[in-house]
Amino acid sequence: MKVFYTTKGLQEALHVTPIENAIGFVPTMGALHQGHISLVEKALEENSTVVVSIFVNPTQFDNEGDLDKYPRTLEEDTKLLAKTSENIFIFAPSASEIYGQKITSKKYDFGKLAEEMEGKHRKGHFDGVATVLNHLFRIIEPDKAYFGEKDFQQLQIVKKLVVLENIPVTIVGCPILREEDGLAMSSRNKRLTEEQRRNAVFISEILRKTAADFSNKTVGELNQFAKNAFAENEHLELEYFEIANVKTLKTANKKKEEVTYRAFVAAYAGEVRLIDNIALN
Ligand code: PAJ
Repeated sequence: MKVFYTTKGLQEALHVTPIENAIGFVPTMGALHQGHISLVEKALEENSTVVVSIFVNPTQFDNEGDLDKYPRTLEEDTKLLAKTSENIFIFAPSASEIYGQKITSKKYDFGKLAEEMEGKHRKGHFDGVATVLNHLFRIIEPDKAYFGEKDFQQLQIVKKLVVLENIPVTIVGCPILREEDGLAMSSRNKRLTEEQRRNAVFISEILRKTAADFSNKTVGELNQFAKNAFAENEHLELEYFEIANVKTLKTANKKKEEVTYRAFVAAYAGEVRLIDNIALN
């Protein structure tokens, strides 16, 4: 297991690996859980060299408090990765290693994709995500990069980013890993109190019910049901519930035969913001 803190160190190590070795890349912000590990395992299956970055990216947070409270657990993360494979390169740079002296993000035009849901509620978030990934892709030059459907909108934005920036990497989407009760795994779950953790499962329950009812209810009825259910739940505060077209991420008002839909939720359990989504058809 090798941990690199500098671009130079990582690049030197990557350049001595045989050129025919494919490089798989899993970008993360650390506080790793099995959801992250599932991406790493997929990358290990498909590539001879795997790089996992652990970097809490300041430019994608729209709230200082959220950035400060983001869990940082590099030692445990390294142990968890070592259990998965001794053959992983961990890249854990400082902010100045990535950004130099000016920690700013580039402005991207992702069109409507970045205007919905997370884009609407977290100003500048996707510019921050895209900026850091652009830096990381150029440092690592991976053949494939792995992203979870947990952050479905991010996955779609990244696919667009590599086209806009002309980066020769294949973006691979991976399914959402859940706890036994259905809660989507997330680094933020570590911040939940026991009671909040118990209540948080409601998010996945509503999504599952929406998926089960999708074929025999209208979009209006499904929205109404979910919004009412959240309104009656005093433990969670709903930020948005949306049924959207998976390609455009535009909110659906009416089902169309040829379109694939997912339902998306963002909700707060106390101060902790949780997101989840589910395939509907
Ligand atoms: P982070 O939240 O650490 O997530 C890293 C990757 O793990 C993302 O692709 C995310 O979708 C995936 N992931 C998280 N929880 C998952 C789960 N339960 N099942 C499957 N995959 C899951 O997303 C980021 O970091 C950052 O925005 C980043 C891309 C690293 C840029 O800073």
